[in-house]
Amino acid sequence: MADLSTVLVTGAGGRTGQIVYKKLKERSDQFVARGLVRTPESKEKIGGADDVFVGDIRDSSTLVPALQGVDYLIILTSAVPRMKPGFDPTKGGRPEFYFEEGAYPEQVDWIGQKNQIDAAKEAGVKQIVLVGSMGGTNLNHPLNSLGNGNILVWKRKAEQYLADSGVPYTIIRAGGLQDRDGGIRELLVGKDDELLQTETRTIARPDVAEVCIQALKYEESKFKAFDLASKPEGVGTPTKDFKALFSQITTRF
Ligand SMILES: NC(=O)c1ccc[n+]([C@@H]2O[C@H](COP(=O)([O-])OP(=O)(O)OC[C@H]3O[C@@H](n4cnc5c(N)ncnc54)[C@H](OP(=O)(O)O)[C@@H]3O)[C@@H](O)[C@H]2O)c1
Repeated sequence: MADLSTVLVTGAGGRTGQIVYKKLKERSDQFVARGLVRTPESKEKIGGADDVFVGDIRDSSTLVPALQGVDYLIILTSAVPRMKPGFDPTKGGRPEFYFEEGAYPEQVDWIGQKNQIDAAKEAGVKQIVLVGSMGGTNLNHPLNSLGNGNILVWKRKAEQYLADSGVPYTIIRAGGLQDRDGGIRELLVGKDDELLQTETRTIARPDVAEVCIQALKYEESKFKAFDLASKPEGVGTPTKDFKALFSQITTRF
């Protein structure tokens, strides 16, 4: 039997994280899946198996058991903005958002990701895949003013920390995430937010999940950072050759 790789996905109760966890479980001939979630409720939500660890990325000590014996880490944790109550879409205007105390992007997207990178390095993890967001080259991006969180700034800082860590890495800066079927669109990789200036700047969550897993299989994905989006369904050819996709990327950051 081929050697199985043990993969931990954090944020495994999140919208993309749970797709990664499920895909890994379905590929038990290649991977031993593990998940990290923040609460017992999230653990139940994704099936409650023993391979789901409960921990908080802001507390390094809770990451150690989950990372023991892990070959690959996929980071899908993120600060989650909450909508302020009282917004009435019928009255027009825009909803307002906030972050819970202690769960600002600085604590989650910076300190939390840094804690994971440090703990993974300590545990001898062979590669770290980090999902971030497009838009990070623009300090004035509207997402930064959301809840006064500067979320893209803190995400970018964590990406830089990973790129400097010495651990082989793949940084995926996704475009606008959509809850649609995956595997049916041509994927596009880019750099420096150039895709944001085009009409093709969204991607289905299952496609992001697939790229995270495929990144573990090809050397061409390592020491790379890239933007990720897709063509609309029916335009172009659905991406099947991930080695070729990763080979197109020339940017280390
Ligand atoms: N939304 C977009 O259009 C968009 C575009 C580009 C990139 N992205 C990025 O893509 C990534 C995936 O997005 P998504 O929408 O799939 O994610 P999501 O559903 O918001 O999931 C984020 C996960 O992080 C977990 N988390 C937060 N704080 C934590 C902590 N302290 N300890 C442990 N876990 C914690 C959350 O757990 P709980 O469920 O317990 O809160 C949640 O499951 C994120 O980095 C996101 O910023 C999003």
